[in-house]
Amino acid sequence: MTSDGADKLGRDDSRWDYAEPNGDIDFTPFRQSNRLPIWADPQDRYPKLPVRDYGTYRQHDQAIYHSPEVMRDEWEKIFKKSWMLVGHITDVPRKNSFMKVDRGPESFLVVRGDGEELTGFYNFCSHRGAQLVKADFGSTQKFVCPFHKWEFSTDGELTKIQDRESFRTGSICYDLDLPKIRVEHWRGWICINMDMDAVPLVDFLGPDFIERAEAYIFEDLIRIRDVEQEWPANWKVAREIFLEGYHVQATHPQYNPAVNAYHAQHDLMDNGHGLSVFQFMSPNPEYVGKVEGLAEEHEIFLREAGVPESDWPASVSDVPQAVINAKRNRKDPPIDYSRFTDGQLIHDWNQSVFPATETFYHPEGYFIQHWLPHPSDPEKCIYQVQVYAVPGISELPSFMAVPNADLSGRKTLPRTYIGFDDMESLGPVIKQDRDMVPRLQRATHSDGFRGGVFSEQEVRIRHFHDQYFRLMGRQHP
Ligand code: FES
Ligand SMILES: [Fe+2]
Repeated sequence: MTSDGADKLGRDDSRWDYAEPNGDIDFTPFRQSNRLPIWADPQDRYPKLPVRDYGTYRQHDQAIYHSPEVMRDEWEKIFKKSWMLVGHITDVPRKNSFMKVDRGPESFLVVRGDGEELTGFYNFCSHRGAQLVKADFGSTQKFVCPFHKWEFSTDGELTKIQDRESFRTGSICYDLDLPKIRVEHWRGWICINMDMDAVPLVDFLGPDFIERAEAYIFEDLIRIRDVEQEWPANWKVAREIFLEGYHVQATHPQYNPAVNAYHAQHDLMDNGHGLSVFQFMSPNPEYVGKVEGLAEEHEIFLREAGVPESDWPASVSDVPQAVINAKRNRKDPPIDYSRFTDGQLIHDWNQSVFPATETFYHPEGYFIQHWLPHPSDPEKCIYQVQVYAVPGISELPSFMAVPNADLSGRKTLPRTYIGFDDMESLGPVIKQDRDMVPRLQRATHSDGFRGGVFSEQEVRIRHFHDQYFRLMGRQHP
């Protein structure tokens, strides 16, 4: 630090006042300027991003969590203009493979052409509007509407009108091809945009986002889990849960011995994107010194890294290095671990794509979650989770909840729709988050709840609000 409090990167949040706890406390860890321990990235490959000050407001604008007008407004101002991550190029593995993408009230088709060329268009027949395709994934030479058999090419061009002679010429003089949307992919991740004038995808993601993902292997993946469920809350209520690690110690107590969310590094990026790096394998501060021997979660991490039980360290503090060594020294490693910093080999790199997607990166695979607006009800949302594995790996981190996955990549995995009350299929961790969702939604109608206040551990929520209120042109609280 320099004498005025800023370091050479201009990071300075030391001037801010923090609430005084009863005893002495080191405020440094949850400051935005906190960075991961130097051993995790000795070359400083991913420098900490500068601090951004989003103030101390109370989020009293509860209408954004239940108003139908706000819901319509955010569809127009945010979702119709943002790039949305919808899948991976391996989900449409060959020419004429397609995927259906439902977002809010809309439905789209993304079709693969020659090579890695992708086309996207609306999934509603131009005759009387029947949804053309109901299947989530498939392959076809043409799309045939089930209602009156109009036919469209895989580019969305109208190719056949059934009983054409029964239409007066003037009735079919309109442009009846399926309207296009933008589709681009970045290193295999497919994104769509309804705005034909939107900036290119890489500009939307921005250099900080792209740089922080560079080590991870994205190009060739296998989708091994794909689940959708309706959740009883506005999409932002659910979204905000996953923008902070403050809740981990209370909501996911099983992680206290083995996940240090308190010392997470939070990086705030342009366009509302962000990164949190959560230290896996180290205890939450309250548990330091209280953990005798290894907790079950440590044993899982060690087992997953292939450390034989006879070599397990006695102390919790030696677990991170043991896992790093196991990955670095592995004979015939399934993936090239030399691409990664030590920290990336063990930590959870948790990068968000504004507005509705959170990605969790580990060298072996990716856990992607979306909290999407419901087609019509502002007090519900559509939760989706997809897990992608890097080919060749034998196991993914257990929190990804994919036991006995088919890692062969031979079949296109269908999407599973789970019932409203089915908590078990979410896996133990997401189930705990999902339990909080209706409690939070109820508060948005209460006169007794005057709106959320946020710690610096929750700064990414303030960062999300900043972008949200700006795009909405809505008064920021
Ligand atoms: S609605 Fe599609 S052919 Fe009539
Ligand atoms: Fe959680």
